[in-house]
Amino acid sequence: MNLNALLQYLQSSHVAAAISGTAGWEWWFANIETLHVLAVALLFGTILMVDLRLLGLATPRTAIIRLSNEVLPYTWVAFAISMVTGTLLFVSKATVYAYNLQFQLKMLFMLLAGINMAIFHFGVYRKARAWNDALPPPLPARLAGAFSIGLWITVIFMGRWMGFTVQ
Ligand code: HEM
Repeated sequence: MNLNALLQYLQSSHVAAAISGTAGWEWWFANIETLHVLAVALLFGTILMVDLRLLGLATPRTAIIRLSNEVLPYTWVAFAISMVTGTLLFVSKATVYAYNLQFQLKMLFMLLAGINMAIFHFGVYRKARAWNDALPPPLPARLAGAFSIGLWITVIFMGRWMGFTVQ
């Protein structure tokens, strides 16, 4: 099955018909999008807490390992909900979203945010015990925090922009 056939298959499913409102109840899209926005708010809010700490700007008295351990489980739950709700919204108009520039850029910047996180996690964070309370945190940690904030804001910007470009 090629990509176009897969997109067409997704879009003609019962789930897609329900979400896009063509199957009767018209509120599915708005309700799922509300959940998507709430999950995104929790996702970005918790990421921002850690990123601002990495920059040394917020909660400087909380050790970085402790903050990460307490906050990041919420981030992962929010990420999972964002992925599920985002995929449901996508399916409703799969053939349109897949070729929408803002959607493609949103996915690209999400990938870059993931790569930034992986570099941080497997890089300077492995030695976090050594700089757990250090202020300012080491340069690679500050850079990871700054890139993360910029990349996630761009993801959110693209997500908002998508809604204005898709009919
Ligand atoms: C996990 C990180 C994500 C973030 C930060 C994010 C962010 C956003 C934002 C801010 C909106 C705009 C909501 C509004 O109109 O107020 C949005 C809408 C949307 N997102 Fe996401 N999203 C994420 C994941 C995903 C994924 C994984 C998909 C699909 C595979 C997706 C698909 C969509 C779709 C289809 C819309 C609706 C656009 C429209 O109104 O036509 N999102 N997203």
